[in-house]
Amino acid sequence: MRLAFFSTHLFDRHSFDEANAGAHQIDYFEPRLTPETAPLAAGYPAVCAFVNDKLSAPVLETLAAGGTRYLLLRSAGFNHVDLAAARRLGLRVARVPAYSPHAVAEHAVALMLALNRKICRAHARVREGNFALDGLLGIDLYGRTVGIVGTGRIGTIVARIMQGFGCRLLGYDVVPAEDCRALGMAYVPLDTLWAEADIISLHAPLTPATRHLVDAAAIGLMKPGVMLVNTGRGALIDTPAVIAALKSGRLGSLALDVYEEEEGLFFQDLSSEVLQDDVFARLLTFPNVLITGHQGFFTREALRAIAETTLENLTAFARGETSGRELDLG
Ligand code: NAI
Repeated sequence: MRLAFFSTHLFDRHSFDEANAGAHQIDYFEPRLTPETAPLAAGYPAVCAFVNDKLSAPVLETLAAGGTRYLLLRSAGFNHVDLAAARRLGLRVARVPAYSPHAVAEHAVALMLALNRKICRAHARVREGNFALDGLLGIDLYGRTVGIVGTGRIGTIVARIMQGFGCRLLGYDVVPAEDCRALGMAYVPLDTLWAEADIISLHAPLTPATRHLVDAAAIGLMKPGVMLVNTGRGALIDTPAVIAALKSGRLGSLALDVYEEEEGLFFQDLSSEVLQDDVFARLLTFPNVLITGHQGFFTREALRAIAETTLENLTAFARGETSGRELDLG
C-alpha cells in the first residue's frame, strides 16, 4: 500500500526502510502534517503521523477528500487526533500502544538522577577547569518518597527502578496495577501523593481529565523543594503555574521531556534562530530545570519496534484485516 509519511527524520527512514524491505511504497515527507501540508497526501490511501502532527478535523477532512482511509500513528499517545472527526469521515486509526516502555522509563530516571546530582552543570564546570562543588549538592534517593501518576506500562517500570534505589513508592491511577502493589506501592488519592512525594513523575496519558493535572492548586499541596519530572505529555502541567513555583522556590527542580507548545520547537535544529516562545525561554533560564526535546522514546529498540508495529498495522489494513491495535472510534 502507498503510505505518505509525515514529519520524517533520517532515523525514521532508516528504521522504516529496514523493517519494510520493499513491502509497501513509503514516500517520505519532511514537513509536519498541518492543514497546509495535508494536500501532499492526496491519492495516498494511508498516512503515517508522529506526535506533533496535527490530526485536527480540517486536516482529516483534507486527507479523506484526497482518498486517505487509514491513519498510522507511530506513537502510543493519540491525543493529537480528533477522534470524532476520524469517525465521522470513516477513517481507521491504528497506533503503536507499546514499543519500549523501558526507553521512556529509563529516560525519566536519567532525568531524575541528572537533575538531583546536577550532572549537566557539573560536566560543564569540569570542562572549564572549575572543580568547585558549590551549587552541586544533591540528596540521597534512598529512603525518599517517589509519587508516580499513571502506573501503566511506563509508570510500572519507573516504580520498579525506583524501588531498586530503596525509595518508598506512592501511586495514583484510575486503574491500579497489581505489579506495582507487589512492589510495595501504596495507591493514594492524588492530593496525598502531591503532599507526600519528594519526587513526582508523570506517566498518565493526556486526556481532558489529566490536562493541567499539575496546576497552581496541586503545586500548593506539594512539599517545598519537590522535584517534578514530566515525560508524559506537556499539557499534563500548567507551565506558567510551574514557572511561578520555580520562581518562588516552592518547586525545587523540574525535568521535562515534553512541553505543551512543543510542536513548533522539538525535533528540529533551531539553533540559528531567535526563540519565539517566551514561556519556554523563561524555563531555560532556571539552573534547576533540565529539558530534553521529547527523546524518551529514542532508543534503537524502540525505533525498531515502532517501525515493525506500524508496518504490521499497515499490512493488516492492506489485507482488510484489523491488527488489534486500532483505536475504537465508537
Ligand atoms: P499506559 O496506557 O500503559 O499507562 C497509562 C496509565 O495511565 C494507565 O494505567 C491508565 O489507567 C492511567 N491513567 C489514565 N487516565 C488517568 C487519570 N486520569 N489519572 C491517572 N492515571 C490515569 O501508557 P504508557 O505506555 O505507560 O505511556 C504513558 C504515557 O507516556 C503515554 O500516554 C504518552 O503520553 C507518554 N509517552 C511519552 C513518550 C516520550 O517519548 N516522552 C513516549 C511514549 C509515551
